[in-house]
Amino acid sequence: MQNAKIIAMAGKGGTGKTTISALVIKYLLEKNLTPVLAVDADPNANLNELLGIDVGATLGDIREDMRTKTPEGMSKHDYMEMQINQAILEATGYDLVVMGQPQGPGCYCMANSILAGVLERLSHSYKFLLVDNEAGMEHLSRLNLRNIYKLIVVSDASSRGVTAAKRIADLTASLDVKVEEKILIVNRIPDNMPEELIKHIEKTVSESDLKLGGFVPYSQPIFEYEAARKSILDIPNNADGVKETMRILEKFIGNP
Ligand SMILES: Nc1ncnc2c1ncn2[C@@H]1O[C@H](COP(=O)(O)OP(=O)(O)O)[C@@H](O)[C@H]1O
Ligand SMILES: [Mg+2]
Repeated sequence: MQNAKIIAMAGKGGTGKTTISALVIKYLLEKNLTPVLAVDADPNANLNELLGIDVGATLGDIREDMRTKTPEGMSKHDYMEMQINQAILEATGYDLVVMGQPQGPGCYCMANSILAGVLERLSHSYKFLLVDNEAGMEHLSRLNLRNIYKLIVVSDASSRGVTAAKRIADLTASLDVKVEEKILIVNRIPDNMPEELIKHIEKTVSESDLKLGGFVPYSQPIFEYEAARKSILDIPNNADGVKETMRILEKFIGNP
């Protein structure tokens, strides 16, 4: 069976990566591009909150567990694999696994390599893997996710933000990660985007290997759903911000 296609998020904190991750899941579910495995690789995990799911053990907890307790007669590898399988949360059409915080000092190399192996095996059972994370992409190579189908770089509507997005996109070259397509989404734009800023964005994109996905407006419904702790999956597709995000996803992910 084929490996899952990997969609990974990147961009500075607070730009909207987790929100757009949830909308990517919404898109994939609605297009029946399932099953989907969502990987929350942000130490301050919160993708589950936007999806309205409670999380039990994170992989960080399991890693920590593995250092201290392994049942007799079981190898650390088997124990961790069993724990990871138990930590996968099953929702309708998609599963979620949460990396969580690496607790305490010490090296997690062995745990990470077991985790990478489990993810690799898991990836055969999914059509898509969606990886939400913090700013950078180091964890992609750490988890041995070296073939990225789409890298979605999210930026705020600022000149420095877009320059930072380009820098992040450029980093993949040094990480031994192959990316088929890098897409820039400028998120939470105001009603009046200054012409100068649009020019700067277009210039920045032209000097990089990013493609301009589009501009997602500030969205009152996204704001309200987040505030009310309601699942982003339930926001209507014609809502402000959601509509444009879906258009971008349709264009770049389509129905492969
Ligand atoms: N288009 C948007 N309109 C309104 N609020 C948004 C939009 N995109 C994101 N937000 C809000 O911005 C905040 C940060 O978004 P989040 O997705 O958590 O960013 P990141 O994962 O990059 O740190 C959240 O409160 C989220 O609800
Ligand atoms: Mg986030």
